[in-house]
Amino acid sequence: MRISVIGCGYLGAVHAAAMAELGHEVIGIDIDANKIANLAEGKPPFFEPGLPEILSSAIASGRLSFSTDMADAAGATVHFVAVGTPQKRGSSAADLRYVNAAFASLAPHLAAGDLVVGKSTVPVGTAARLAADLTAAGSGAMLAWNPEFLREGFAVKDTISPDRLVYGVPSGAEGERASALLNEIYASAVATGTPVVVTDYATSELVKVAANAFLATKISFINAMAEIAEVAGADVTQLADAIGYDNRIGRRFLNAGVGFGGGCLPKDIRAFTARAEELGRGESVAFLKEVDQINLRRRQRVVDLTVEALDGRANEKKVAVLGLAFKPYSDDVRDSPALEVAVQLRGLGARVVATDPQAIENSRRLHPQLEYEADALDALRDADVLVLVTEWPEFRELDPVAIGEIVRTRTIVDGRNCLDAAAWRAAGWTYRGLGRP
Ligand code: UGA
Repeated sequence: MRISVIGCGYLGAVHAAAMAELGHEVIGIDIDANKIANLAEGKPPFFEPGLPEILSSAIASGRLSFSTDMADAAGATVHFVAVGTPQKRGSSAADLRYVNAAFASLAPHLAAGDLVVGKSTVPVGTAARLAADLTAAGSGAMLAWNPEFLREGFAVKDTISPDRLVYGVPSGAEGERASALLNEIYASAVATGTPVVVTDYATSELVKVAANAFLATKISFINAMAEIAEVAGADVTQLADAIGYDNRIGRRFLNAGVGFGGGCLPKDIRAFTARAEELGRGESVAFLKEVDQINLRRRQRVVDLTVEALDGRANEKKVAVLGLAFKPYSDDVRDSPALEVAVQLRGLGARVVATDPQAIENSRRLHPQLEYEADALDALRDADVLVLVTEWPEFRELDPVAIGEIVRTRTIVDGRNCLDAAAWRAAGWTYRGLGRP
């Protein structure tokens, strides 16, 4: 199948490379010339395990190319739109300017029978509006909405072998044709029994935000339990294990800690709330505001625990911050709780030295006022306190005995509850977790 992918950010770059890997002929298009030049050389503009390999092999096979010219989308049968929908400045709503611009500039290059497939996360109702615009433009192209559920760090695997496929399509023969084309594109996943949910536009748009809202709620639920555990003297990690054994609840996404961040969960729950309010049903998802608040309070809690560990005075103390990315296996620092904790501690006068295996460059661009060390041992040498905020394997595996020799004070705040508290205490450390005694 000849495919174009409009927007080569996180979602689009992975999607373009994965579709070529599946055997399709793909052109990736983006307005950012620098990004396109790098991608054409097989260099992704972000860290994603496995992506450089499939990008290079797809380019070498001749099935994947990149362009800044929307006219190069002409000739493809299916056009995926994968541009970003960030939070609008000064509002909780999603900013649709990139989606609108992508559809407007794609429209003149469409031919009768082409299928445009929206992948971006959009407020419910957007697809119906865009479909009407497409019809009005008279090209004879049709629209499907096919939300993406990939996780950063596992994006290649999630794209090639998704756990489900959702097609939002128009009713009748058009919808059947759109589903058939999508089944052809995802033939390998469909053949292995991946569930396919064929539905209308509105449901497909809502599935995506409902999934992220549920995940955010699950994390904030356990973080709320952590807040209670802190005043009751209970241990939230044991609580999570115990309730997680109930299959109806499940243990995944019940890790209490500094909370969720990234380019998706925080902005998606806010955009969902804003859209529900526009639709006159704000009260139905008002709890998501609480979910957001609980989440943001956990960042403050890590800062407070750190200051407490410094006897109430952060000024000029050396704080080693382990982790900057919003989660491991990523260099993404968008709305990262780890980076925010580092910035706040710096604001309190601490000498913050931060380290991360992948996210230093992105952090430095946003916050040049922080000190960065590529080597964790350099970051924590002579530190008055360690603050672990991204659970990279190299931080989880730190040896409390060995590093006990190079810090100034053996105190650690485990913002991800990922260390063996007993082992650290046995090595002479003062260990503070979140929601743990
Ligand atoms: C999330 C969803 O998981 C994907 O399904 C979705 O496709 C994606 O958003 C998106 O909308 O594009 P992602 O942002 O890559 O994926 O990250 P997650 O793995 O969901 O983690 C989000 C945040 O929650 C991270 O900061 C992580 O550290 C935190 N988290 C996760 C916890 O604090 N506790 C947990 O138990 C799990």
